[in-house]
Amino acid sequence: MPDKIPFLIYGAYGYTGELITRLAVEKGYRPLLGGRNEAKLKTLAEELRLPYQVFNLNEEEKVDQALQKVKAVLHCAGPFFKTSRLMVYACLRNKVHYLDITGEIEVFEWIATKDAQAKKAGIVLLPGAGFDVVPTDCLAAHLKTRLPEATYLELAFSGVSKMSKGTALTMIENMHAGGLIRQQGNLVKVPSGYKTKRIQFGNEEKLAVSIPWGDVSTAYYSTHIPNIIVYAATNLANIAAIKASRYAGWLLKSDWLQKYLKQRVTEQVTGPDLQHRQQAQTYLWGQATDDKGQVCTTRLQTPEAYELTAHTAVLAAYLVSEGKITPGFKTPSLAFGADFILQIKGVSRQDV
Ligand SMILES: NC(=O)c1ccc[n+]([C@@H]2O[C@H](COP(=O)([O-])OP(=O)(O)OC[C@H]3O[C@@H](n4cnc5c(N)ncnc54)[C@H](OP(=O)(O)O)[C@@H]3O)[C@@H](O)[C@H]2O)c1
Repeated sequence: MPDKIPFLIYGAYGYTGELITRLAVEKGYRPLLGGRNEAKLKTLAEELRLPYQVFNLNEEEKVDQALQKVKAVLHCAGPFFKTSRLMVYACLRNKVHYLDITGEIEVFEWIATKDAQAKKAGIVLLPGAGFDVVPTDCLAAHLKTRLPEATYLELAFSGVSKMSKGTALTMIENMHAGGLIRQQGNLVKVPSGYKTKRIQFGNEEKLAVSIPWGDVSTAYYSTHIPNIIVYAATNLANIAAIKASRYAGWLLKSDWLQKYLKQRVTEQVTGPDLQHRQQAQTYLWGQATDDKGQVCTTRLQTPEAYELTAHTAVLAAYLVSEGKITPGFKTPSLAFGADFILQIKGVSRQDV
């Protein structure tokens, strides 16, 4: 029997899937490519001389045929609340490791419930292998090491100014849901734009607003710190719009507005171009506080968010496919440690 291919990239011809695929090839890997659109998949696979397999996620037999050829799946087809369950079930069925690039809280929480099944199948389930949540998760784990008795964790990022079509569509799907924080270990709904704060990112202080970012779920598994809030840097106009959306949940969920916004995104959003990806930087900030009032702060600086996603996802998929990570549900820092992010070129960390 031929050796198994290290990993399958599903959604390989999407904006982020393609970045990941091209980087994997650059790093010397020969992944199997997967997706549901034969023409797009074939074009990419032929250009890169990679094997490919066309299948929809609900075609169980074809999914199993593809998964039998690989050690791990790197799932890049989102929104993940629509696609991750079928792929996770397929990975459990075929005893193949699962990774994805989601940032969706409900997806992290659902996958965490599959921990026992993953252990039984001997596989790793590692959602969030991209910008959301690798750098912030590593920051959270690092802060936990610095302040082991921390009870309050704040995380923030700045510099994500351009997004891909898939990210924008995923945001539209989720925008009616409002805010979410972690309080005494529980996920608690809060109004959109619940808190604002001025944060020192690198050399610059910026205004930031609380958002329901993936770490509200994952940092709790990584650190057990019971209170977690995540902020994104933005401006006053955006904060006003976010706060106004509190009164329009029904409207944001309505079919016609969803359809209108998705159509505009599909027509107009192309994702950051190469020049932007090579030049932009992101800045992350984290602060842990304990009950005695002790405070630890750490900052990270990284390459552009989609560039970073490609690097962290490829490295994570390779490491998981090597079979050295203990089975079960994992966050990035639980799988690879708090210093995982420092393995990516262009990342620096500063304890303040
Ligand atoms: N966590 C992070 O840091 C991070 C970073 C980047 C992206 N993301 C997330 O990754 C996802 C993809 O982003 P993107 O920029 O690559 O978007 P994109 O360019 O729109 O690509 C989406 C890909 O998913 C596929 N897809 C969507 N629904 C599918 C389904 N039901 N079955 C099979 N394939 C399906 C699409 O295939 P078709 O063309 O055939 O529909 C396409 O290949 C988004 O959810 C985004 O939020 C997360």
